[in-house]
Amino acid sequence: MPDKVVYVTRRIPKPGLDKLAERFEIDFWDDDEVIPHNVLIDKMKSRRYDALLCMLTDRIDKDVLDAAGPQLRIVATMSVGYENIDTAECAKRNVMVANTPGVSTDSVAELTVTLLLMTARRTAEGVEAVKAGTWGEWKPMWLCGTELTGRILGVYGLGRIGFGVANRLRNFGFTKIYYCDIQEVSYAKEIDAQFIDFDGLVRTCDFICVCCNLTPQTRHMFNRDTFKKMKNTAILINSGRGGVIDHDALVEALRSGEIQAAGLDVTEPEPLPKNHPLVSMYNCVILPHMGSNTWDSRNAMAAIAARNCIAAVNNQTPEGLVKA
Ligand code: DGY
Repeated sequence: MPDKVVYVTRRIPKPGLDKLAERFEIDFWDDDEVIPHNVLIDKMKSRRYDALLCMLTDRIDKDVLDAAGPQLRIVATMSVGYENIDTAECAKRNVMVANTPGVSTDSVAELTVTLLLMTARRTAEGVEAVKAGTWGEWKPMWLCGTELTGRILGVYGLGRIGFGVANRLRNFGFTKIYYCDIQEVSYAKEIDAQFIDFDGLVRTCDFICVCCNLTPQTRHMFNRDTFKKMKNTAILINSGRGGVIDHDALVEALRSGEIQAAGLDVTEPEPLPKNHPLVSMYNCVILPHMGSNTWDSRNAMAAIAARNCIAAVNNQTPEGLVKA
């Protein structure tokens, strides 16, 4: 019988469970929906868990950590983003935090490119017209979108995913690729991307892909002032985190024509309520946070999260360790 015990906050793919079973007795929330926060706290109090494998939807705060007790070694999230975890509180308790970097880069980059093309070419409206029976005779000016050829691409956050997006889009005829980040990155040369400051990025680019994490610095970077600076023809794509964009400001910018269109795979809040103004806007394409929804990625994410838990209880450095 394993001497370590892990709590898993959701049903997860088998490769993750199989891996965990090598080292842990597993206790888990046997549901596809989110565990309520108070139930998670009760669970943490009910038993002395050595590891907590959570999802990006679980708020891991002081209350959860207090309930878990001092033997907890790690909070391992099955996601790249970890803004749901109070990393400072974890550090105070010597609880490691780990995420799943690298294994969803391709799936998220592919989805970002899909969303950009959908938004530029108004494909969601086209599909909707066919389903609704409003597809009439061919018309010269119906559902006309924007070509990528000859345009300027901007990437806000040239990490693994931003790089994957720009690398894929390189062959679509953009004349220039700009990126803006906390700092300049050496691998930008590989895709002939040039560093530009944020002001330059938003004023210059025709397409902007938001691929960054949500941090206090990136929160609402795209706001009323930003939209005023952007081209009226600009198309904004977000597959990073919803909180990077001020959604009230986005509604105004799309309504007034300050920017042309937006494609969002992430929103604030999630799920975005059906009656949110963005949902009914023709120039906003919204997907339900499905960037990493491939079996390849999800199996790999579950497995790396499990390996992170095992490493922590074996006193090794988890491969996804988040630096405090
Ligand atoms: C992540 O890994 O953070 C993604 O947003 C989940 O799809």
